[in-house]
Amino acid sequence: MTLAIKGANEIPTCHGGLENLDEEYAYWIDEVEGEVPRDLTGTFFRNGPGRQRIGGKPYGHWFDGDGMVCAFTLRGGRVHFRNRYVRTPKYIEETQAQAIRYRGFGTQVPGGFRKNFLHMPANPANTNTVWHGGHLLALNEGGKPWALNPANLETLGEFTYDGGLHAGDVFSAHGKIHPRSGEYINFGAGIAGFGLKGPRPCLNVYRIRADGVLAQRVQVPLTHFPFCHDFALSDRYAVFFLGSIVFGNMLPVILGTRTIADQVRFDPAIPMRILVLDLSDFSVVREFETDPGAVIHFANAWEEADTLVVDGMFADNFRANEALKDVFNPDSRFNGGQYLRFQLNLKDGSLAKQKVCSTESEFPTFNNAFAGRRNEVTWTACSVPNGADSFFNAIQRMTHDGEATLLELPKGLYGSEPLFAPADNATREDDGYLLEVVYDGFRHRSDLQIYRADSMEQVAVLHLKHHVPHQFHGFFTHDVFLSAGD
Ligand SMILES: [Fe+2]
Repeated sequence: MTLAIKGANEIPTCHGGLENLDEEYAYWIDEVEGEVPRDLTGTFFRNGPGRQRIGGKPYGHWFDGDGMVCAFTLRGGRVHFRNRYVRTPKYIEETQAQAIRYRGFGTQVPGGFRKNFLHMPANPANTNTVWHGGHLLALNEGGKPWALNPANLETLGEFTYDGGLHAGDVFSAHGKIHPRSGEYINFGAGIAGFGLKGPRPCLNVYRIRADGVLAQRVQVPLTHFPFCHDFALSDRYAVFFLGSIVFGNMLPVILGTRTIADQVRFDPAIPMRILVLDLSDFSVVREFETDPGAVIHFANAWEEADTLVVDGMFADNFRANEALKDVFNPDSRFNGGQYLRFQLNLKDGSLAKQKVCSTESEFPTFNNAFAGRRNEVTWTACSVPNGADSFFNAIQRMTHDGEATLLELPKGLYGSEPLFAPADNATREDDGYLLEVVYDGFRHRSDLQIYRADSMEQVAVLHLKHHVPHQFHGFFTHDVFLSAGD
């Protein structure tokens, strides 16, 4: 293993945090600074690629690493850690072979186009998790969910909601739970049929009831296949931003000579289209068009009279794709976006947008009890140019009116998505904690850091016995999950 630590006085980059964690652990974390809050009870699940190399060979894209779910269970002032890979066919076969056996978003099977011809990318189940309707799911937008046992993270199998997801359906990693109905709304890119010009693209939008039953699916026709990773949810609407990151010519992908990642590009000639769907029946109620760009992740959305307000992390390029294809390059830097607020007037169709803050921001999080109605606080991962900014190196608390509190990590330590977890019996929107897994490049280990979400005061640092490769997204539930031997 080659780490980015070169000398005692040199500040490590984030790249050591991309190395594999092949081992699976289950233990109570004993090395603790500060005090774990006793009014935070529940389980914090996270997902991300746990390995970027197989048999010593790197995958061709960060998105192709196999999903490794972590569970931090908080109870009575103590925290239990568990990590386990999702046993997809890709994980199982590649582990046995110690070689790349499946195509990915940016990975080819060695052996030329014959080995890749007509093969679709595998689903690595590596992007997010959700606990809803009695199901813990590992999610990736390139395939179906994978169900896990929440107590021990053992893989139960690919999940279809009793056949509600059909062959070929995909299911986004960014479904959202509506706090009023308890419904889980999700979507996936699909094919509505075949015409003279080939397959007709659509968005499949899914409604899963609070009891975990897929109750409705609707096809929304589109003009082209979208690179649509996330959407925004207000009380009455689902909002999809179809941006300027597009799939180019897919013929070389089908023929096996190029990967999807090779053919995805930012086209500055394509404006961003915004579709607003009525949540009651998923009908399109209004469309907007604005300058080229893309919103990768959304914060909250809410209605103010005729205006729909949407907070999102905006990008005017897709240069990040080059870093994602070459993760071990010490010069690779993983960028965030701009925190923008869009105001969509549903009555007259006008659109306005403004920058909420100037700091490079990504991975927004807020109190999900306020999803769909105006919230006062959003927290983001930030990248601050300080000479040690190859990855996210700060957390920001941002009020609705743009008052920012920025908390920089020590140089050489890299965070990711901070997740808001409400305190037990919380009484205010920001009455709770931020949970942040931080990679310490000096020690090649990771910590769970816990902050008060209101004051940003750090209350505990829990040192793991190993590192956790940088992950994408997580989910907190007040349900406590442990297995009998823990
Ligand atoms: Fe995401």
